[in-house]
Amino acid sequence: MGKSNNNKTLYTLPTVEEKFELLEKKNEEALQGGGKDKIEKQHAKGKLTARERIELLLDEGSFEEIGKFVMHRSKDFGLDKQHFPGDGVVTGYGTVNGRLTYVFSQDFTVLGGSLAEAHAEKIVKIMDLAMKNGAPVIGLNDSGGARIQEGVVALGGYADIFYRNTLASGVVPQISAIMGPCAGGAVYSPAITDFILMVEDTSYMFVTGPNVVKTVTQEDVTAEELGGASTHSSKSGVTHFSCANEVECINSIKTLLTYIPQNCEEDAPVYPYQEGDEKRPKLNSVIPENPNQPYDMREVVEGIVDEGSFFEVHKDYAENIVVGFARLAGRSIGIVGNQPASLAGVLDIDASKKAGRFVRFCDAFNVPLLALEDVPGFLPGTDQEWKGIITNGAKLLYAFSEATVPRVTVITRKAYGGAYDVMNSKHIGADMNFAWPTAEIAVMGAKGASEIIFKREIASAEDPEAKLQEKVDEYTEKFANPYRAAHRGYIDEVILPEDTRKKLIRAFKMLENKVDQLPKKKHGNIPL
Ligand code: HXC
Repeated sequence: MGKSNNNKTLYTLPTVEEKFELLEKKNEEALQGGGKDKIEKQHAKGKLTARERIELLLDEGSFEEIGKFVMHRSKDFGLDKQHFPGDGVVTGYGTVNGRLTYVFSQDFTVLGGSLAEAHAEKIVKIMDLAMKNGAPVIGLNDSGGARIQEGVVALGGYADIFYRNTLASGVVPQISAIMGPCAGGAVYSPAITDFILMVEDTSYMFVTGPNVVKTVTQEDVTAEELGGASTHSSKSGVTHFSCANEVECINSIKTLLTYIPQNCEEDAPVYPYQEGDEKRPKLNSVIPENPNQPYDMREVVEGIVDEGSFFEVHKDYAENIVVGFARLAGRSIGIVGNQPASLAGVLDIDASKKAGRFVRFCDAFNVPLLALEDVPGFLPGTDQEWKGIITNGAKLLYAFSEATVPRVTVITRKAYGGAYDVMNSKHIGADMNFAWPTAEIAVMGAKGASEIIFKREIASAEDPEAKLQEKVDEYTEKFANPYRAAHRGYIDEVILPEDTRKKLIRAFKMLENKVDQLPKKKHGNIPL
């Protein structure tokens, strides 16, 4: 204990440090969330606690907590007797790989991580700070939803967060990890954020749960089937990443952050790169001899980008298009590639939505775009037409058209019909367009085209089949190559596949200081 300030000591006063220590000790137990039993329960489910998750996410010792002692003000339904410092959410800031990051982590051990007035205020506070200071917000979600005891105040808290999610969209990156329940209207906060990650078997998201589904539609479905990680990563596309466990989930967040800037005014971090022999002869043999044979566009990606740098997004959803981040000569790029290995790389509703959203993220956050094109067109059929391929296909067209970041395209093989226009063509604002000698740029494939324009000639021929083949050969000779487009300047250069990496490094370097602006407007009206 400290001493009084003269020799006649009658009593001693605690020092500031001692006072602080006493108070902190009093709160120590409460700061362990809902208590030992509940933490054990959480661990038994294969889940970490809110604080353990933050520890894994942030650089060691960098976490600064905000609002540790905030408590709810509710007196109903027994809440007057239950007070938990922090109110079921741990919030603050720290660094990830040395870069400022804001984080909130819901604590399921406290009233099921339910969101109430004070809980929401804490999240709002760090979102406001993130926007003012230009740094990402990471939300680690594990919550039973609106705190039932608080009623409309809890709903208002959600709306306060949704509103900020919307205001922050395009200003700072927002990433949501779902590490437990996320149900009802609560799903709409992650839905507005840029990326969602889910953990297999321990997380789920749905607007209405299995019980309501059973009552309304008589369907029997488990929570996992209805809204688990595999459902949302493959069927609905709600989640961008499905992770085997929480550690993988948090590591994926950290990796993702390495490709993106802190805010819309900055560029993504640049990694050291030493120029070397950039020829990649392996690329010369990727395209099969038969133009109808599939190949994996990921092989092209791997052959172009810095070794091991491709970080695929939305891997299991709409597999006919591949999107993801990579580094080229140490710099981040966003890649959108048709995937001939799935549905021949055709564009459909899901692929258009997936790629459109990715393009818009890259454009909002200054990540240059590379389109790798091998597309036979849009998917025909009543299913697609009735579900709105027109409106949905337009999303990708719109997204590319309004993107002002450096934009480069490489046509590896087919570039047919409207899909040629949509896939970052020169006409909609791409800066550099390359084609491999195997490129076929035409309104449609040679056979379909010949059957239409030489219909009568073929029908009246002595040997219609031979005639058709003759016309197909003629059409192929004329159009199934990149030179017609190159004559017009729609293609800037026909390049050997092995030179693609070198050409792209130079093109993106040349475009490094690109400045482009959209016409003045409040905002566009993307066909949603
Ligand atoms: C208050 C809640 C709660 C909630 C859970 N708890 N959800 N407290 N409000 N929404 C409490 C429980 O009472 C329990 O307290 C503790 O958290 C753990 O819950 P358990 O049920 O024991 O856990 P578990 O078996 O794992 O089940 C988790 C669960 C279930 C599936 C999430 O708790 C559940 O169904 N909760 C209600 C979900 C819900 O309907 N929420 C409202 C959705 S609508 P004790 O003290 O016993 O440990 C919504 C609207 C948002 O969120 C609107 C935005 C516009």
